[in-house]
Amino acid sequence: MSKTIAVLPGDGIGPEIITEAVKLLEVLKQSHGLDIQLEKGLIGGAAIDATGKPLPDETLELVKKSDAVLLGAVGGAKWEPLPIAIRPEKGLLGLRAELGLFANLRPAILFPELADASTLKPAVVAGLDILIIRELTGGIYFGKPRGVRNLDNGEQQGFNTLVYDTHEIERIAKVGFESAMKRQKKLCSIDKANVLEATELWREIITKIGKNDYPEVDLTHMYVDNAAMQLVRYPKQFDVMVTNNMFGDILSDLASQLTGSIGMLPSASLDANGKGMYEPIHGSAPDIAGQNKANPLATILSVAMLLRYSLQQAELANKVENAVSKVLQNGLRTVDILQAGKTVVNTEEMGDAIIAALD
Ligand code: IPM
Ligand code: MG
Repeated sequence: MSKTIAVLPGDGIGPEIITEAVKLLEVLKQSHGLDIQLEKGLIGGAAIDATGKPLPDETLELVKKSDAVLLGAVGGAKWEPLPIAIRPEKGLLGLRAELGLFANLRPAILFPELADASTLKPAVVAGLDILIIRELTGGIYFGKPRGVRNLDNGEQQGFNTLVYDTHEIERIAKVGFESAMKRQKKLCSIDKANVLEATELWREIITKIGKNDYPEVDLTHMYVDNAAMQLVRYPKQFDVMVTNNMFGDILSDLASQLTGSIGMLPSASLDANGKGMYEPIHGSAPDIAGQNKANPLATILSVAMLLRYSLQQAELANKVENAVSKVLQNGLRTVDILQAGKTVVNTEEMGDAIIAALD
């Protein structure tokens, strides 16, 4: 049966990188037997401009009836003066919440060809393969109360709340342990249990689940500040990392740089039933938008994750990932991953090269 993929380009470089991903999906449809329908929708600033809302009702309807969502990026200077509640980012956060996409998988894998593109020494990052699992619908991003209030002394006070309920910790823990079981059976849970009670509970629950249900997994715990340091000191000590919404946001940006460029990191955000939203972890990069310069590989690798997790097309997913490897081996680079002696290509040329490299 044909599967529907909602395609939400968003803002900044979003439309350019999504164009390349869509080109690839069309080729997979036409010549590799992939039975899909693509339907475009508005999100973020583009949606605000067209409808006044960052997540219009039509988009919500579209994503709810779809089997998977492919998203570009949201945000830009133009919408920054708007109140937080109606900014482009709220569209993305609303999608995550409405679809119940609590598990965000962010693999930081170094393609061997890019070992020199990282700002870290090649020996430190060569062979890097980390999976960061970020809780995505809870924690301080969604906790209440939140806001800015006026105090009696005439000052203002900004406040947010870090909350996690048992079931939220349990279900993300399970994703962490299950992922570890399929890999090196090593799970590192990241918290700040020495200071924050919410993450003390996080640690307790994860420890209990590990002991009771996953004795085979080598479970460790690390404070987030130490984890940030360890990620640049000796990143290959990690296999799977599981952490809360905000720590995952920060650590995944950090880890992306180990792989050469934030333009290389895909992500999958999954609900309890395998429905997912797929997006590069980078933002809308307004400074290079419209210049045909952005790296489309994070989005193309997100398509591979979409094929694997939501369409059960592991073989096609492998083909896409192999095509990326091949193109890098052939020396093609967008500017963000450029090294001496390699050939610079623009966004569109990179997309074409991936399609040409598909077996
Ligand atoms: C990410 C982004 C988003 C986040 C923004 C755009 C709201 O940084 O997906 O990592 O903070 O989750
Ligand atoms: Mg982020």
